[in-house]
Amino acid sequence: MTFEQHPGRGRFNAIFFRVMGPYIEWSVRRRKGRVFADLPRQVVELGPGVGANLGYLATGTNLIAIEPNRAMYGGLGRAAARRGIHLDLRERMAERTGLDDASTDTVISSLVLCSVQDPAAVLAEVRRILAPGGTFRFLEHVVAKPRTFTRLVQRVLRRPWGWTFEGCSCERDLEGLIREAGFLSVTVERYRLHSPFLGFNPQIAGVARV
Ligand SMILES: C[S@@+](CC[C@H](N)C(=O)[O-])C[C@H]1O[C@@H](n2cnc3c(N)ncnc32)[C@H](O)[C@@H]1O
Repeated sequence: MTFEQHPGRGRFNAIFFRVMGPYIEWSVRRRKGRVFADLPRQVVELGPGVGANLGYLATGTNLIAIEPNRAMYGGLGRAAARRGIHLDLRERMAERTGLDDASTDTVISSLVLCSVQDPAAVLAEVRRILAPGGTFRFLEHVVAKPRTFTRLVQRVLRRPWGWTFEGCSCERDLEGLIREAGFLSVTVERYRLHSPFLGFNPQIAGVARV
């Protein structure tokens, strides 16, 4: 399994998330505030992009960032330096992080399981690297309810959306996948944004424990 670098689209996405980041952040701030509350000083993040979640980490945190997309590295490095985060950037895919079994207490991610090649493999990897009692804290956009207008939009836009956002899908039942992944417990909050990006609006945020 390899990550295909798309120089043009990678750059577009890095700029898109830098520009749109504050708007997305404003929309989800209360949910993120809850699921990313009291993070420890050692955190693994899957697909951090240009650093949307750095603001939830205390200054001095050691962040192991699993990010295969080189287009994100400049923005992520600068954002981490501004916030005093010790960035340990690994050019790896979340399906195979290369981290040891039970080597971390906390894994976080936002808007990543929609984009990875194999979300079930990523969730198995998260369980493998979490130490007993550890938590996976996530926020994702998910498939809409069947026979709704939003579901129709997700269906119609699947190809251009996936192409533009480098493999992102709005049609994944990520709550179902997380619940089936074998965590000891899973708490999920479902909600809906009111953004103009209709297919992106059904979302979940939660915590899974091992
Ligand atoms: C939609 S962006 C979200 C970025 C950031 N987490 C945020 O909330 O703004 C998806 C991110 O997942 C990364 N990604 C894609 N496939 C991945 C994989 N297999 N493993 C880890 N990260 C991946 C992309 O490079 C990108 O940074």
